[in-house]
Amino acid sequence: MEEDLKTIVLQAEKGISDLHSLPEFESFKAKFLGSNGALTQAAKSIGKLSAEERPRVGKLVNEVKIQIESIFAKALTRIEEAELAKKIGSEVDPTLPSPDGQKGVIHPLTQIRRELDDIFRKIGFTVAEGPEIESEWYCFDALNTPDYHPARDEQDTLYFPKGSDFANISRKSNERYVLRTHTSSVQIRTLLQEKPPLRIIAPGRAFRRDAVDATHSASFHQIEGLYVDKNVTVKDLKSVLDYFSAQLFGNNVKVRLRPSFFPFTEPSFEVDLYSPNLGKLSNKWIEIMGCGIVDPEIFKAVDLDPEIWTGFAFGMGMERLAMIRYGIDDIRYFYNNDLRFLKQF
Ligand code: PHE
Repeated sequence: MEEDLKTIVLQAEKGISDLHSLPEFESFKAKFLGSNGALTQAAKSIGKLSAEERPRVGKLVNEVKIQIESIFAKALTRIEEAELAKKIGSEVDPTLPSPDGQKGVIHPLTQIRRELDDIFRKIGFTVAEGPEIESEWYCFDALNTPDYHPARDEQDTLYFPKGSDFANISRKSNERYVLRTHTSSVQIRTLLQEKPPLRIIAPGRAFRRDAVDATHSASFHQIEGLYVDKNVTVKDLKSVLDYFSAQLFGNNVKVRLRPSFFPFTEPSFEVDLYSPNLGKLSNKWIEIMGCGIVDPEIFKAVDLDPEIWTGFAFGMGMERLAMIRYGIDDIRYFYNNDLRFLKQF
């Protein structure tokens, strides 16, 4: 019996290197481990042995089985790799990119955000952040937006239930919380943390109670800008907007300011772009953002002296910028994760 087992191992070791395909492998393996295989037969014959011999031989058979299985496992890996290499036409080099062609791409919104980061970094802006859950004070009160302002309506803003508590976010007790409706709250957070003069942009997510359609999404992205220094005027604001628009849309672009209203800027403007090379949007004025000179009330809310400090602020939708830039006509494409869409960028 012991001799038989040794012979089985020798035969397996000897035959295995001649195997070069999966069918060859399978039929060779069956000779040992199949139901009529040599090792299976040996295991069955243990029953015929005397009671004293049985445990010793049983143990031996098990050891041999483990040995044989490892011989076969190694051979299988070798054969499979060789077959794959044959298919590819060379040895497999695991450091090469996957041959299936599924290369990842950067989401268009991320691309736009990175471009904006670069554009504003060149003129001294840094990136600031704030939480997406905001207290009413940061989102509205400190931004000179009174209780009765329509933006504070439950129809337009996503409020947390009364009694929700995010102590690390609020500044006063018993505040109500919202999903921030704009990134302007980061203006307040920055002014409380940093000493002017300062220049920041704040890209991030914002939320409104909008019904979803081709141009609206309840969750979208904005980029905020804030520039605070002494003697800042509309001329400074316009220069920065001209520079930014030319960088993003080309030198042919024209920029116009149209009087408007925001509670936190005075005067306030809507900004329109006009360019001959914007596809379907060429040669007409298109609105891209809101902006204005920081209202003195904002400085008062953060304990800065409005007699000393002046500034401008702007805010725009990143989806909208990407849509104009890339000629995308439906905002929902950004969130559907459809590779046919994403791969175009
Ligand atoms: N927060 C405004 C909005 O969401 C945009 C804005 C930002 C306007 C800064 C003026 C200054 O529409």
